[in-house]
Amino acid sequence: MTGDPSFTQSPRPEHMLDSTALADRTILVTGASSGLGRATCILLSQLGARIIAVGRNEQRLIETADQLDGSGHLVRPFDLSQVDEIPTWMKTLAADHGTLQGVVHSAGQHLARPLQMLKPESVQELMQLNVTAGMMLAKGLRQRGVFTSPASIVFLSSVMGHVGQAGVSAYCASKGAVDAMTRSLALELAPQGIRVNSVAPGQVETEMAEQQKQTLTSEQFDRIKALHPLGLGRPEDVAHAIAFLLADTSRWITGSILTVDGGYTIH
Ligand SMILES: NC(=O)c1ccc[n+]([C@@H]2O[C@H](COP(=O)([O-])OP(=O)(O)OC[C@H]3O[C@@H](n4cnc5c(N)ncnc54)[C@H](OP(=O)(O)O)[C@@H]3O)[C@@H](O)[C@H]2O)c1
Repeated sequence: MTGDPSFTQSPRPEHMLDSTALADRTILVTGASSGLGRATCILLSQLGARIIAVGRNEQRLIETADQLDGSGHLVRPFDLSQVDEIPTWMKTLAADHGTLQGVVHSAGQHLARPLQMLKPESVQELMQLNVTAGMMLAKGLRQRGVFTSPASIVFLSSVMGHVGQAGVSAYCASKGAVDAMTRSLALELAPQGIRVNSVAPGQVETEMAEQQKQTLTSEQFDRIKALHPLGLGRPEDVAHAIAFLLADTSRWITGSILTVDGGYTIH
Protein backbone atom coordinates (compact mmCIF):
# COMPACT_ATOMS: atom_id res chain seq x y z
CA MET A 1 0.00 0.00 0.00
CA THR A 2 1.42 3.41 -0.95
CA GLY A 3 -0.93 6.05 0.58
CA ASP A 4 -0.94 9.81 0.27
CA PRO A 5 2.16 11.34 1.93
CA SER A 6 0.35 14.30 3.48
CA PHE A 7 -2.10 11.86 5.07
CA THR A 8 0.50 9.46 6.46
CA GLN A 9 2.43 12.39 7.94
CA SER A 10 -0.55 13.77 9.88
CA PRO A 11 -0.25 13.03 13.60
CA ARG A 12 -1.96 9.97 15.04
CA PRO A 13 -4.28 11.02 17.86
CA GLU A 14 -3.68 9.09 21.05
CA HIS A 15 -6.87 10.03 22.83
CA MET A 16 -10.18 11.77 22.32
CA LEU A 17 -10.62 15.55 22.32
CA ASP A 18 -9.05 17.36 25.28
CA SER A 19 -7.76 20.86 25.96
CA THR A 20 -4.80 20.28 23.62
CA ALA A 21 -6.72 18.68 20.72
CA LEU A 22 -6.42 21.86 18.64
CA ALA A 23 -3.35 23.41 20.27
CA ASP A 24 -1.24 25.57 17.94
CA ARG A 25 -3.97 25.63 15.29
CA THR A 26 -5.50 28.77 13.88
CA ILE A 27 -9.10 28.27 12.80
CA LEU A 28 -11.13 30.84 10.86
CA VAL A 29 -14.80 30.68 11.87
CA THR A 30 -17.45 32.57 9.86
CA GLY A 31 -20.80 33.36 11.48
CA ALA A 32 -18.82 33.84 14.69
CA SER A 33 -21.09 36.64 15.88
CA SER A 34 -24.04 34.36 16.56
CA GLY A 35 -25.56 30.92 17.14
CA LEU A 36 -23.61 27.89 16.00
CA GLY A 37 -20.56 29.93 14.93
CA ARG A 38 -20.26 31.56 18.34
CA ALA A 39 -20.67 28.25 20.21
CA THR A 40 -18.06 26.71 17.91
CA CYS A 41 -15.54 29.50 18.61
CA ILE A 42 -16.00 29.01 22.35
CA LEU A 43 -15.52 25.22 22.22
CA LEU A 44 -12.56 25.35 19.80
CA SER A 45 -10.81 27.87 22.08
CA GLN A 46 -11.33 25.45 25.00
CA LEU A 47 -9.58 22.79 22.90
CA GLY A 48 -6.57 25.07 22.44
CA ALA A 49 -7.26 26.71 19.06
CA ARG A 50 -6.57 30.31 18.17
CA ILE A 51 -9.73 31.74 16.59
CA ILE A 52 -10.20 34.24 13.77
CA ALA A 53 -13.80 35.30 14.32
CA VAL A 54 -15.57 36.56 11.17
CA GLY A 55 -18.96 38.17 10.60
CA ARG A 56 -20.24 41.66 9.71
CA ASN A 57 -21.21 42.87 13.19
CA GLU A 58 -17.98 43.85 14.95
CA GLN A 59 -19.62 44.45 18.33
CA ARG A 60 -21.11 40.97 18.36
CA LEU A 61 -17.79 39.46 17.26
CA ILE A 62 -16.12 41.18 20.21
CA GLU A 63 -18.80 39.69 22.51
CA THR A 64 -17.79 36.25 21.15
CA ALA A 65 -14.08 37.00 21.61
CA ASP A 66 -14.73 37.99 25.23
CA GLN A 67 -16.01 34.44 25.88
CA LEU A 68 -12.96 32.63 24.46
CA ASP A 69 -10.34 30.71 26.43
CA GLY A 70 -6.66 31.37 25.78
CA SER A 71 -5.10 34.28 23.95
CA GLY A 72 -4.18 35.54 20.49
CA HIS A 73 -7.70 35.40 19.06
CA LEU A 74 -8.66 37.88 16.36
CA VAL A 75 -11.88 39.61 15.38
CA ARG A 76 -12.08 40.32 11.64
CA PRO A 77 -15.34 41.87 10.39
CA PHE A 78 -15.95 40.96 6.74
CA ASP A 79 -19.01 40.83 4.50
CA LEU A 80 -18.83 37.40 2.86
CA SER A 81 -21.27 38.44 0.14
CA GLN A 82 -18.20 40.09 -1.43
CA VAL A 83 -17.28 36.65 -2.72
CA ASP A 84 -14.69 37.87 -5.26
CA GLU A 85 -12.60 39.33 -2.48
CA ILE A 86 -12.47 36.27 -0.21
CA PRO A 87 -9.27 34.58 -1.53
CA THR A 88 -7.22 37.81 -1.50
CA TRP A 89 -8.54 38.72 1.94
CA MET A 90 -7.45 35.27 3.24
CA LYS A 91 -4.00 35.66 1.70
CA THR A 92 -3.58 38.96 3.55
CA LEU A 93 -4.88 37.44 6.80
CA ALA A 94 -2.34 34.61 6.59
CA ALA A 95 0.50 36.99 5.70
CA ASP A 96 -0.32 39.15 8.71
CA HIS A 97 -1.25 36.48 11.27
CA GLY A 98 0.22 33.15 10.13
CA THR A 99 -1.18 30.15 8.29
CA LEU A 100 -4.56 28.55 8.96
CA GLN A 101 -5.19 24.90 9.84
CA GLY A 102 -8.96 25.07 9.60
CA VAL A 103 -12.01 26.93 8.32
CA VAL A 104 -15.58 26.60 9.60
CA HIS A 105 -18.22 28.25 7.37
CA SER A 106 -21.10 28.86 9.75
CA ALA A 107 -22.30 32.15 8.25
CA GLY A 108 -25.58 31.41 6.55
CA GLN A 109 -29.00 32.67 5.66
CA HIS A 110 -32.39 31.00 5.96
CA LEU A 111 -35.35 31.84 3.75
CA ALA A 112 -38.93 30.69 4.21
CA ARG A 113 -40.96 31.88 1.18
CA PRO A 114 -43.79 30.20 -0.66
CA LEU A 115 -42.96 29.86 -4.35
CA GLN A 116 -45.43 32.54 -5.47
CA MET A 117 -43.51 35.12 -3.39
CA LEU A 118 -40.00 33.92 -4.15
CA LYS A 119 -37.82 36.41 -6.05
CA PRO A 120 -34.70 35.39 -8.03
CA GLU A 121 -32.66 38.07 -6.21
CA SER A 122 -33.43 36.47 -2.84
CA VAL A 123 -32.41 33.03 -4.11
CA GLN A 124 -29.20 34.47 -5.53
CA GLU A 125 -28.33 36.29 -2.29
CA LEU A 126 -28.87 33.13 -0.26
CA MET A 127 -26.84 30.94 -2.63
CA GLN A 128 -24.07 33.54 -2.62
CA LEU A 129 -23.60 33.29 1.16
CA ASN A 130 -24.47 29.63 1.81
CA VAL A 131 -22.68 28.13 -1.20
CA THR A 132 -20.43 30.50 -3.20
CA ALA A 133 -18.80 32.06 -0.13
CA GLY A 134 -18.03 28.54 1.17
CA MET A 135 -16.43 27.58 -2.12
CA MET A 136 -14.38 30.80 -2.16
CA LEU A 137 -13.22 30.12 1.43
CA ALA A 138 -11.94 26.73 0.23
CA LYS A 139 -10.29 28.44 -2.76
CA GLY A 140 -8.73 30.98 -0.39
CA LEU A 141 -7.43 28.32 2.00
CA ARG A 142 -5.72 26.16 -0.62
CA GLN A 143 -3.42 28.98 -1.76
CA ARG A 144 0.30 28.71 -1.10
CA GLY A 145 1.19 30.39 2.19
CA VAL A 146 -2.40 30.40 3.52
CA PHE A 147 -2.60 26.92 5.09
CA THR A 148 -0.41 24.29 6.65
CA SER A 149 -1.31 20.63 6.42
CA PRO A 150 -3.07 18.78 8.00
CA ALA A 151 -5.92 21.24 7.52
CA SER A 152 -9.66 20.78 7.69
CA ILE A 153 -12.69 22.62 6.31
CA VAL A 154 -16.13 22.18 7.86
CA PHE A 155 -19.23 23.52 6.10
CA LEU A 156 -22.60 23.95 7.77
CA SER A 157 -25.16 21.97 5.83
CA SER A 158 -28.61 21.10 7.22
CA VAL A 159 -31.05 18.22 7.33
CA MET A 160 -32.92 20.41 4.83
CA GLY A 161 -30.31 19.33 2.28
CA HIS A 162 -31.55 15.74 2.72
CA VAL A 163 -35.32 16.12 3.11
CA GLY A 164 -37.87 18.49 1.60
CA GLN A 165 -39.94 21.16 3.29
CA ALA A 166 -42.66 23.21 1.60
CA GLY A 167 -41.84 26.92 1.34
CA VAL A 168 -38.12 26.43 1.99
CA SER A 169 -36.94 25.31 -1.45
CA ALA A 170 -34.16 27.92 -1.88
CA TYR A 171 -32.62 27.10 1.52
CA CYS A 172 -32.96 23.34 0.87
CA ALA A 173 -31.30 23.78 -2.55
CA SER A 174 -28.40 25.69 -0.98
CA LYS A 175 -27.77 22.95 1.59
CA GLY A 176 -28.00 20.20 -1.07
CA ALA A 177 -25.35 22.19 -2.94
CA VAL A 178 -23.17 22.35 0.19
CA ASP A 179 -23.29 18.54 0.45
CA ALA A 180 -22.38 18.11 -3.23
CA MET A 181 -19.50 20.58 -3.03
CA THR A 182 -18.21 18.91 0.14
CA ARG A 183 -17.68 15.63 -1.73
CA SER A 184 -16.03 17.22 -4.77
CA LEU A 185 -13.80 19.58 -2.81
CA ALA A 186 -12.73 16.67 -0.59
CA LEU A 187 -11.41 14.88 -3.67
CA GLU A 188 -9.82 18.02 -5.09
CA LEU A 189 -8.04 19.05 -1.89
CA ALA A 190 -6.97 15.65 -0.47
CA PRO A 191 -3.62 15.77 -2.32
CA GLN A 192 -2.82 19.01 -0.45
CA GLY A 193 -3.65 17.46 2.93
CA ILE A 194 -6.90 19.43 3.35
CA ARG A 195 -9.93 17.45 4.50
CA VAL A 196 -13.44 18.74 3.69
CA ASN A 197 -16.57 17.68 5.60
CA SER A 198 -19.99 19.07 6.51
CA VAL A 199 -22.20 18.94 9.54
CA ALA A 200 -25.95 18.69 8.89
CA PRO A 201 -27.88 19.82 11.97
CA GLY A 202 -31.56 19.44 12.68
CA GLN A 203 -33.33 22.28 14.48
CA VAL A 204 -31.03 23.96 16.99
CA GLU A 205 -32.10 26.75 19.28
CA THR A 206 -30.32 29.82 17.80
CA GLU A 207 -31.39 33.22 16.44
CA MET A 208 -31.91 31.69 13.00
CA ALA A 209 -34.25 29.11 14.52
CA GLU A 210 -36.04 31.90 16.40
CA GLN A 211 -36.62 33.78 13.11
CA GLN A 212 -37.98 30.59 11.51
CA LYS A 213 -40.27 30.13 14.50
CA GLN A 214 -41.82 33.55 13.80
CA THR A 215 -42.99 32.25 10.39
CA LEU A 216 -44.76 29.22 11.92
CA THR A 217 -47.88 28.68 13.99
CA SER A 218 -47.29 27.12 17.41
CA GLU A 219 -48.86 23.87 16.11
CA GLN A 220 -46.41 23.81 13.18
CA PHE A 221 -43.48 24.45 15.53
CA ASP A 222 -44.63 21.73 17.94
CA ARG A 223 -44.84 19.31 15.01
CA ILE A 224 -41.22 20.07 14.04
CA LYS A 225 -40.14 19.64 17.65
CA ALA A 226 -41.95 16.29 17.87
CA LEU A 227 -40.04 15.09 14.78
CA HIS A 228 -36.79 15.28 16.78
CA PRO A 229 -36.85 12.12 18.99
CA LEU A 230 -34.09 13.58 21.18
CA GLY A 231 -35.67 17.04 21.28
CA LEU A 232 -34.24 20.22 19.74
CA GLY A 233 -30.48 20.65 19.74
CA ARG A 234 -28.24 23.10 21.55
CA PRO A 235 -25.48 25.00 19.71
CA GLU A 236 -22.84 23.04 21.68
CA ASP A 237 -24.17 19.75 20.24
CA VAL A 238 -23.19 20.95 16.78
CA ALA A 239 -19.96 22.58 17.98
CA HIS A 240 -18.73 19.21 19.31
CA ALA A 241 -19.27 17.57 15.91
CA ILE A 242 -17.40 20.42 14.21
CA ALA A 243 -14.50 20.12 16.68
CA PHE A 244 -14.26 16.38 15.95
CA LEU A 245 -14.05 17.10 12.21
CA LEU A 246 -11.29 19.68 12.76
CA ALA A 247 -9.13 17.58 15.07
CA ASP A 248 -6.89 14.62 14.25
CA THR A 249 -9.52 12.27 15.71
CA SER A 250 -11.14 12.50 12.25
CA ARG A 251 -7.89 12.26 10.26
CA TRP A 252 -9.30 9.50 8.02
CA ILE A 253 -12.63 11.22 7.34
CA THR A 254 -13.16 13.43 4.30
CA GLY A 255 -16.10 14.13 1.99
CA SER A 256 -18.60 13.12 4.67
CA ILE A 257 -21.81 14.78 5.80
CA LEU A 258 -22.18 14.24 9.55
CA THR A 259 -25.85 14.36 10.55
CA VAL A 260 -26.40 15.89 14.01
CA ASP A 261 -30.17 16.07 14.30
CA GLY A 262 -31.53 14.35 17.41
CA GLY A 263 -32.94 11.65 15.12
CA TYR A 264 -34.93 13.96 12.79
CA THR A 265 -33.98 12.16 9.57
CA ILE A 266 -34.39 8.54 10.77
CA HIS A 267 -38.17 8.59 10.33
N1 LIG B 1 -29.93 26.96 13.80
C1 LIG B 1 -30.36 25.86 13.23
O1 LIG B 1 -31.33 25.23 13.66
C2 LIG B 1 -29.63 25.33 12.01
C3 LIG B 1 -30.00 24.07 11.53
C4 LIG B 1 -29.36 23.55 10.43
C5 LIG B 1 -28.35 24.27 9.81
N2 LIG B 1 -28.00 25.50 10.29
C6 LIG B 1 -26.94 26.23 9.58
O2 LIG B 1 -25.92 26.58 10.49
C7 LIG B 1 -25.34 27.83 10.11
C8 LIG B 1 -25.38 28.78 11.30
O3 LIG B 1 -26.71 28.95 11.70
P1 LIG B 1 -27.10 29.80 13.00
O4 LIG B 1 -28.35 29.23 13.51
O5 LIG B 1 -25.91 29.93 13.87
O6 LIG B 1 -27.44 31.21 12.32
P2 LIG B 1 -27.50 32.68 12.95
O7 LIG B 1 -27.54 32.65 14.43
O8 LIG B 1 -28.57 33.39 12.20
O9 LIG B 1 -26.09 33.27 12.50
C9 LIG B 1 -25.83 33.55 11.15
C10 LIG B 1 -24.43 34.11 11.09
O10 LIG B 1 -24.13 34.43 9.72
C11 LIG B 1 -23.46 35.68 9.70
N3 LIG B 1 -23.67 36.32 8.40
C12 LIG B 1 -24.85 36.50 7.77
N4 LIG B 1 -24.64 37.14 6.61
C13 LIG B 1 -23.31 37.37 6.52
C14 LIG B 1 -22.47 38.00 5.55
N5 LIG B 1 -22.97 38.53 4.42
N6 LIG B 1 -21.15 38.07 5.78
C15 LIG B 1 -20.63 37.55 6.91
N7 LIG B 1 -21.36 36.92 7.86
C16 LIG B 1 -22.68 36.85 7.66
C17 LIG B 1 -24.09 36.47 10.83
O11 LIG B 1 -23.18 37.45 11.28
P3 LIG B 1 -23.34 39.04 11.07
O12 LIG B 1 -24.77 39.38 11.24
O13 LIG B 1 -22.42 39.59 12.11
O14 LIG B 1 -22.84 39.26 9.68
C18 LIG B 1 -24.26 35.39 11.90
O15 LIG B 1 -23.09 35.28 12.67
C19 LIG B 1 -26.11 28.30 8.89
O16 LIG B 1 -25.44 27.92 7.72
C20 LIG B 1 -27.42 27.54 9.00
O17 LIG B 1 -28.03 27.36 7.73
C21 LIG B 1 -28.62 26.05 11.39
